[in-house]
Amino acid sequence: MDLTLKIWRQPNQKASGKMEDYKVSGIDGDMSFLEMMDILNEQLIEGGKDPVAFDHDCREGICGMCSMQINGEPHGPEKSTTTCQLHMRKFKDGDTIYIEPFRAKGFPVIKDLTVDRSAFDRIIQAGGYVSTNTSGNTLDANAIPVEKEKADLAFNAATCIGCGACVAACPNASAMLFVSAKVSQLALLPQGRVEAEERVQNMVKQMDLEEFGNCSNVGACSMECPKDISLDNIARMNREYMSATVSSRK
Ligand code: SF4
Ligand code: FES
Repeated sequence: MDLTLKIWRQPNQKASGKMEDYKVSGIDGDMSFLEMMDILNEQLIEGGKDPVAFDHDCREGICGMCSMQINGEPHGPEKSTTTCQLHMRKFKDGDTIYIEPFRAKGFPVIKDLTVDRSAFDRIIQAGGYVSTNTSGNTLDANAIPVEKEKADLAFNAATCIGCGACVAACPNASAMLFVSAKVSQLALLPQGRVEAEERVQNMVKQMDLEEFGNCSNVGACSMECPKDISLDNIARMNREYMSATVSSRK
């Protein structure tokens, strides 16, 4: 395949960016999207030009690093798929592909396609954990029975890889799907109930401090999520938050 790529180039956070055109040829349908980007970068380096900065790590759909807007969609056109697992067979010879960074106030551009998603880390630091007794009297993990249905829902929520596609897809740049998955994975389990009220309040407070927008029930977040995180998690987080707020006022 021969392709035209229109890529957002921005040297740093303060500089203004612009789309630039590139040509790549000999692209095989079995290559991943990131392998195609590697070929472009080899071409640029060989020509003495600055390669395109983009994030990646596992290239297996696990780490959530490969944030990229492809033809206007976070992670591109294939449902339930990260950019690193998107294959070039999804495109046709002669296609023009638009490649941009995830755009949100909470995700400032670092360079080209890389954005700073440390806001997500700060939200997790605000409460996305369970305090553990490490005194030597720690209980076996399986000593507390968990209903199968709840274990499955908690597991589904825990598949969120923190990629930020939900924020990029949302017209309000809301982080509600991400935060609700991280609240739910713990709120559904007995081990997570102990700190549940404090957790949801602290995580929502941090989410607001990071200037993510509010949820207005568009649903694009869940549609574009590579892990199919359900909107039910947002409803659960809202219930958890309401009940924690009422109980802390008593
Ligand atoms: S909810 Fe989905 S889109 Fe959002 S961070 Fe988690 S995996 Fe990515
Ligand atoms: S590089 Fe890890 S999920 Fe894509």
